[in-house]
Amino acid sequence: MKDFSTRDALEELSDSKEVADSAIIRMIYAYYANYVHWSGPEFSLGFDQMRDIYEQSQELLGSFQSFCQFAVKTTAPNQKPNQREIVAEFVSTLPPQKQKLWHSIYPVRYQLRMLGDIGATLLMISDIVSRNIASSDAQEEFFGVDLGTGTGILLAGQEVLARRHGFRTRILHGIEMDDAVASKTREFCHKLWYVIHQWDTTQAKTWSALPYKPLTCITNENIPAANETMDREPFIQNMWILWNTRRDLIQPHTAFVPDELEIVKNPATTETEVRYICSPKNWFYPDDLRDDVGAFDRAGLGSLYKYLIPDRIKLWGTKVPLKLVSPMGAERMWVFGYQRSFLSRF
Ligand SMILES: C[S@@+](CC[C@H](N)C(=O)[O-])C[C@H]1O[C@@H](n2cnc3c(N)ncnc32)[C@H](O)[C@@H]1O
Repeated sequence: MKDFSTRDALEELSDSKEVADSAIIRMIYAYYANYVHWSGPEFSLGFDQMRDIYEQSQELLGSFQSFCQFAVKTTAPNQKPNQREIVAEFVSTLPPQKQKLWHSIYPVRYQLRMLGDIGATLLMISDIVSRNIASSDAQEEFFGVDLGTGTGILLAGQEVLARRHGFRTRILHGIEMDDAVASKTREFCHKLWYVIHQWDTTQAKTWSALPYKPLTCITNENIPAANETMDREPFIQNMWILWNTRRDLIQPHTAFVPDELEIVKNPATTETEVRYICSPKNWFYPDDLRDDVGAFDRAGLGSLYKYLIPDRIKLWGTKVPLKLVSPMGAERMWVFGYQRSFLSRF
């Protein structure tokens, strides 16, 4: 296989007749390798080099996680483990070439775990690129916004969607709150013409500062992992603020990815099932959820989101248990060779 870059992989995906999973996977690997190595999206690498970068960096992140777990276990119960000391100690165990790699991945370690979950990233990108949005005429612009951008991979998916529908003008903005993540992603993405802002997606002023244009696609991956609670990520708050500030920019064909998330009250805290369905029909904040959040707050019980967990997500019009999509679940799917065909079982 010839060396290729993120740019080449995006072109292949945009121009091919069918979107093959293998082409999406090549794009994810190229994006990952170019992003980690500061080489920029136009730098060609061999697939073997990409896999090496991928494997070495994921291995480092895994060892760091085990190192932290060990440090926490061996710290006296009345003492708080010092993160800076743990990192310094970990780095001192690494040979020089790994230290260089470590410095590139450390600020984006959480985001690389997500991007590096190839199975889950494949599912999200496939969902984006397979959306039916209105075809463009020469005048029309594609305006896409990604909320909680991380590495920016979902903007790459939006670019492919726009190009496959013939939009000549693409305006792609990503919003990421973390300073170090936003600056690394901005540096990587400026050659792809994506604009990255270091802003908070839950603030009205974020939407006021974005271009005032009809929205073609919104991606919102601020979703907690299947075993975490909804207070960990602002999925609902993101969509609610969009609705309150910019509902006039939402078109009948605006694509929302994902376009449905079902959340449930943690079964350990309730005897009867409590389920909320968040979709564009209710601006991702159904009335029953809004009532319950208010009642909980008024009763002085704090945030109801601490008791809610994401349960099912809609991909290609099919609801899938999130535990099969988020880390581990996707790995399992991958190992067993399940891909899109797997979803038809639900
Ligand atoms: C679950 S990750 C999504 C990662 C991204 N889709 C990717 O593949 O790299 C959520 C991201 O949203 C960011 N984030 C969390 N809360 C945010 C907020 N209120 N405003 C902007 N970004 C936020 C986190 O720093 C993290 O990078």
